[in-house]
Amino acid sequence: MLMMLRAVFYLFSILPAVVLSAAAPHRRSAVVGTFHRRSYFYVGGAYSQLDDFTTATGQIFVERLTPEKVTQPLPVMFIHGRGMTGTNFMNTPDGRLGWADHFMSQGFEVILVEQPERGRSSWVLGIDGPQDVPDTFLVQSRFTASQRFNLWPQAKLHSQWPGNGSVGDPIFDNFFKSVMPSLVSEEESSIRIRDAGSELLDKIGPVILLTHSQAGQLGWILADSRPSKVKAIVALEPIGPPFINAVFNTVPARPFGVTEVPLRFSPPISSAHDLSPVIVDTGTNFTCFQQRAPARKLANLANIPVLIVTSQSSYHSVYDACTATFLQQAGVAAEHVRLENVGIEGNGHMMFMEKNNLAIADNVVLKWLRKILN
Ligand SMILES: *[C@@H]1O[C@H](CO)[C@@H](O)[C@H](O)[C@H]1NC(C)=O
Ligand SMILES: *[C@@H]1O[C@H](CO)[C@@H](O)[C@H](O)[C@H]1NC(C)=O
Repeated sequence: MLMMLRAVFYLFSILPAVVLSAAAPHRRSAVVGTFHRRSYFYVGGAYSQLDDFTTATGQIFVERLTPEKVTQPLPVMFIHGRGMTGTNFMNTPDGRLGWADHFMSQGFEVILVEQPERGRSSWVLGIDGPQDVPDTFLVQSRFTASQRFNLWPQAKLHSQWPGNGSVGDPIFDNFFKSVMPSLVSEEESSIRIRDAGSELLDKIGPVILLTHSQAGQLGWILADSRPSKVKAIVALEPIGPPFINAVFNTVPARPFGVTEVPLRFSPPISSAHDLSPVIVDTGTNFTCFQQRAPARKLANLANIPVLIVTSQSSYHSVYDACTATFLQQAGVAAEHVRLENVGIEGNGHMMFMEKNNLAIADNVVLKWLRKILN
């Protein structure tokens, strides 16, 4: 009896080890990454008072990934979009290497920021503004399975999301669980990131900024606040278009064109009205507003090269060209790359975690950065 028990115990204790050692070499080679040091710190914010209760608010969580061999002159600072956190750029929801690792493999130090009042950056009831969170319908129809919903003309071309992009698929479920509440107010987000993000740039700059979606405007704001600390901006489908929302909810937004808060224009403006937006004909059904000519210049962004990247099937494919034209009209050296024009098809808004994520990094973003840095 005792011997049998021993045998059973032995079998159970050795089995997992055998299974693991059989699986390990294969699994490791699939996900092996770049040797690096991982550290974090918080920056910005202040003590704030609620009755007799003192706490700290407005600070941002910063994750710093330093590869063993830093060969590039500047770090890349990633800022995620609405409902998301810095996890966006780590591994993909199906466990492949993400952009953070890939950029480290190319010798870049990587800085992952968590937007204020989101994820690991604290949000305090009674001090910080209200939050909201996207639901499964929004995430599936706009990001992961747009081809099933066809809410805009290019949506049906989407094919690069790993898995079926829908509830019940383990990759989708894993991704959806990473969705976080965000501040409802874009203005509050903008002011908070301008304050904490400027302190961060003073501490670690100059950097290359890489923004996605909602963070698009945060990139323009940070570059305007600290122009000498931002050497280039890569904006993946930056929030837009100018002055109005499009596709889903066509209400006025971003009174300063690409931002909710004022940027420094030349000649100066006394209010947003001075930009006097006019509709321009783009030959599509979508309404594109630009400044009335002669356009005021975004003086602080004049020397910062910008790359705007738009995927083939995202709702941004409808209107990102209008955002690029607004920036160009304001004197910004903004290049706009549509992925399908460089042979990369089927991507949606979350391109940096889709099946061909590393091809987009190599053939578009890193290629452009090498050109800029040389
Ligand atoms: C997606 O895949 C999951 C898991 O196989 C399945 O339960 C679900 O019905 C699929 N959804 C669609 C829309 O195909
Ligand atoms: C504009 O909308 C109409 C009606 O929905 C459609 O027939 C037409 O093809 C659209 N034009 C463009 C350029 O998208």
